[in-house]
Amino acid sequence: MTLLSVRGLDVSFVSGKSVIRAVNGLDLDLDEGSSLAIVGESGSGKSVLASAILGMLEDNGTARGEMLFDGEDLMKAERRRMVALRGKDICLLPQNAWSAWDPIMRIGDQMIEFLRKCGVPKEEAPQIAEGYLGRCGLDPSVLRSYAHRLSGGMSQRAMIAMCTAVHPRLLIADEPTKGLDGRSRKLVLDVISTVRERSALLMITHDLKAARSCEDVAIMYGGRIVEIGPANDVLDHPRHPYTKGLCAAHPNKGMVPIPGCIGERTSGEGCCFRDRCCSNDAACSGDIPLDGNGWKVRCCHADR
Ligand SMILES: Nc1ncnc2c1ncn2[C@@H]1O[C@H](COP(=O)(O)OP(=O)(O)OP(=O)(O)O)[C@@H](O)[C@H]1O
Ligand SMILES: [Mg+2]
Repeated sequence: MTLLSVRGLDVSFVSGKSVIRAVNGLDLDLDEGSSLAIVGESGSGKSVLASAILGMLEDNGTARGEMLFDGEDLMKAERRRMVALRGKDICLLPQNAWSAWDPIMRIGDQMIEFLRKCGVPKEEAPQIAEGYLGRCGLDPSVLRSYAHRLSGGMSQRAMIAMCTAVHPRLLIADEPTKGLDGRSRKLVLDVISTVRERSALLMITHDLKAARSCEDVAIMYGGRIVEIGPANDVLDHPRHPYTKGLCAAHPNKGMVPIPGCIGERTSGEGCCFRDRCCSNDAACSGDIPLDGNGWKVRCCHADR
């Protein structure tokens, strides 16, 4: 069953006299029990997409389009309803999760408060919090700590423990492995994958190895999905020139950078990658759909 369906999502921000189009006509479907990694360079619109789904855009942002969560129209939901959905239904593990703790409350109190908001009975919450901290490689003493006493990685893992402990129906994990060492990274991916068995997962990441832990991967550039399909297929045999560039820029492949840099686009016309693409020609200035069956690519020169 489709849990999240996004159609034609546009998100723009007013910044001074200009309008920044952070997400452009994005379509996405996530079934119950499925997992999708979203990969793309800094500024491609990944976190803005997450914020739009949760109704957490900043005041200068506007979202248009359709977003249905379990059939419910999120674009029409009142603020109070969106607040109620956050946590048990749609849980955001924020980018820079270590910075999301309240500095004057103990970690344990914050975890228990969150678990209780998500419907966990009062008497069970401390044990569940401790259990999930353990699964993320953390000692129970973390429950009595304040965030400033923990290292960045510990604080991040504690946030992952809190978000996974509630078994949300949709977990949006924004860069869950960022800055973690190999062991912690594995623990975190393991705990996320067990929770995923009963939930849908949207994992935003720069880590191509972590992306492979998801069934599918969507490659995002300039606020658009340029390629989407089974994670291993897309990352082993990329078809879009941008995906090829991203894979070649990976440390294991020699870190060959993509020429140029991602810009803030003010117009949605033509291929958003054309300014940096060596195949750029007249056809690239037209409207290019995300084309294919199962594995889709938005490029008129893509390998087929
Ligand atoms: N409140 C805002 N006002 C103006 N522009 C914004 C705002 N929030 C985001 N943007 C812009 O939207 C674009 C997408 O930002 P986003 O944070 O989604 O990038 P990202 O893909 O998550 O990057 P990273 O990998 O670095 O986290 C960027 O150009 C960013 O500057
Ligand atoms: Mg981001």
